[in-house]
Amino acid sequence: MEPLTSLRTFSGKPQRRVVLALPGNQAAAARLAVPLAAEIGHAELKRFPDGEFHVRLQTPVSDADVVIVCTLDRPDDKVMALLWLAIAAHQGGAARVGLVAPYLAYMRQDAIFQPGEICAAQHFAELLTRYFDWLVAVDPHLHRIPNLSDIYGVPAAAVQAAPAVAAWVQAHVTKPLLVGPDEESRQWVEHVANLCGAPWTVLSKTRHSAWRVEVSAVRSDLQAERTPVLVDDIISTGRTMIAAANQLRRAGLPHPICVAVHAVFSADAYSELSAVAADVVTCDTIAHPTNRIELTEPIVVAISNMFDLPLPTATRCLVR
Ligand code: R5P
Repeated sequence: MEPLTSLRTFSGKPQRRVVLALPGNQAAAARLAVPLAAEIGHAELKRFPDGEFHVRLQTPVSDADVVIVCTLDRPDDKVMALLWLAIAAHQGGAARVGLVAPYLAYMRQDAIFQPGEICAAQHFAELLTRYFDWLVAVDPHLHRIPNLSDIYGVPAAAVQAAPAVAAWVQAHVTKPLLVGPDEESRQWVEHVANLCGAPWTVLSKTRHSAWRVEVSAVRSDLQAERTPVLVDDIISTGRTMIAAANQLRRAGLPHPICVAVHAVFSADAYSELSAVAADVVTCDTIAHPTNRIELTEPIVVAISNMFDLPLPTATRCLVR
């Protein structure tokens, strides 16, 4: 990608940009820094012997647009460090502090399903809204909550992986049949299939527990000469994809290619899924050996749109 040559600000001054990475996100930050015409900043992050995080921002960020990159799988190990770093950037005089979280956590807890539960998606959004001026995430699990702006009180962009997924399918799969393992996957499967000009269908899922999932039988009229491509937003336990793959096999179709946006892969998910799939392919929102679809370009476009927004008139009150 070409670097963004015009460093725009509303004051007319060139705007310095600094990208900061939480541990494990350095490669993603480096991929973003060049097209954003940003420098890579540094922060020391340590744990005290008692396990508490200590953060020290080492790069001056006064008046800079700061972008913190932290994908939020396994969020509970990361969130305190992330918030401390955002506070350090505000305290250092950053003009704006944005968060790029290619995988945005807690989005599947988007309703109160049983008495006594909480809608974690909403409360997590309220927490991040307090510390960040904007947010960019890739295909956050928007289902019962239709838009990020319904829960985030700052500009929040949801980057769509479908065009990149469709390009991968078109380049690598002959005569694909796109299959969604459950109703919630319809939005991704339909979008990818339309971009590929390929047929698609969606199965129906019953989840009994995190690890026990049933998927409905596959319609008998599905074209057996096509290559089934299962598409979903997240693979966590892998049980959704595995159950769907088994139903496709029972219907006489070949082993499917399994494509997901977010490679969460809990416990044995990857090895168990690999045993029933012709291939497992994911986007690069969470680093994993299956990452074959790059999303740097649409993420950069979404971030540059955030830079185009007017700067806030005052630093966020929490760090005053
Ligand atoms: C849920 O509706 C999502 O779209 C995925 O289908 C789900 O998160 C997959 O989870 P797992 O891999 O644990 O079955």
